[in-house]
Amino acid sequence: MTRYSIAFLPGDGIGPEVAGAARTVLEAVARRCGFQLEFSDHPFGGAAIDQTGEPLSEATTSACLAADAVFLGAVGGPKWDNAPSRPEAGLLALRKAMNVYANLRPVSVHPELADRSPLRPEKVAGVDMVIVRELTGGIYFGERERTEDSASDKCTYSRAEIERVARIAFEQARQRRGRLTSVDKANVLETSRLWRETVSEMGKTDYPDIELDHMYVDAAAMHMLREPTDFDVILTENMFGDILSDEASMLPGSIGLLGSASLSDQRPGLFEPIHGSAPDIAGQGKANPLGAIESAAQLLDSLGEHTAAGLVRRAVEQVHAHAQWTGDLGGTLTTVEVTQAVADAVAAPEPALG
Ligand code: NAD
Ligand code: IPM
Ligand code: MN
Repeated sequence: MTRYSIAFLPGDGIGPEVAGAARTVLEAVARRCGFQLEFSDHPFGGAAIDQTGEPLSEATTSACLAADAVFLGAVGGPKWDNAPSRPEAGLLALRKAMNVYANLRPVSVHPELADRSPLRPEKVAGVDMVIVRELTGGIYFGERERTEDSASDKCTYSRAEIERVARIAFEQARQRRGRLTSVDKANVLETSRLWRETVSEMGKTDYPDIELDHMYVDAAAMHMLREPTDFDVILTENMFGDILSDEASMLPGSIGLLGSASLSDQRPGLFEPIHGSAPDIAGQGKANPLGAIESAAQLLDSLGEHTAAGLVRRAVEQVHAHAQWTGDLGGTLTTVEVTQAVADAVAAPEPALG
């Protein structure tokens, strides 16, 4: 029986609740499809600071690098906001150590979700895009300085860093509807001018079949609300991708729905929902687990277990079709109840009717 090792990092706040949900669904689909998943738990984020003083230990890093895939809940919270090394710094260090430079954040609107969005249902019906966010460069990783009265964060990108993530985005576009929108701020920033030049050259030389356009990030943020179905693949740098993906989560109506896959050139990938630790709802059974569960489907894809990934996504669609939702979507179910509904649908021999 094929076996995969999964490094499991529950993290903080709602992290353990949604990561536990993903694990339940992964275990159900592994049973159904006949492969084995071996989970190993590791302290990470605030939970690790409490144990060792550091958000990311060497032991956790090596366990992640040695695994077939890494699953993460979420990290952070007010308790550690003034820690010498914050949980979020541990997350950036893990992404860097794993070299997961491409972060894929798919956004789609199931028909049942259209009226859950703060936008009008006819605006969001049919939305189906993926945001490809550069994840290991830019302002998140530049030199920083702080004096009493001034501070700076440096943003740097090399041509090679842009090319490798752009290639992932072009390839995504090829497998989808053939459209790529590269988002930058080339009217102001030098890094964005290099970004635009590099992506344009690749479009001409390697991807003439892809319909490529460029947008400034401010206009893209506006267009995301005006005509969100226009987007197929969005390619952008680290910080713009962070902001645009939280905005995009309102198209289906909740940040709790969006998953992400952070990929390098080989395994392991890092899989986490896009949301944070949501301290305001932690420990109350209110967290929407479906973003974490979508990340689990992405994890299965990274292992080549595409049938299993498809079963998970079909199960989530059934849960939407029956409006089996947590409170963020106007439902009345708990995290565990939604998770059980997905796991039951995964285990059902035939798609449940209705
Ligand atoms: P957040 O994403 O945690 O929460 C924003 C809002 O969305 C809150 O109202 C929250 O209740 C809601 N929300 C988030 N996930 C939800 C879910 N699954 N179901 C229902 N509602 C959900 O963002 P924040 O409040 O800005 O940040 C809280 C902490 O999380 C901070 O410490 C931040 O740095 C950290 N954070 C971590 C990650 C990560 O680990 N990848 C991502 C973002 C933020
Ligand atoms: C995300 C988060 C992280 C980011 C933080 C917690 C470092 O917001 O994964 O979107 O900005 O990348
Ligand atoms: Mn974010």
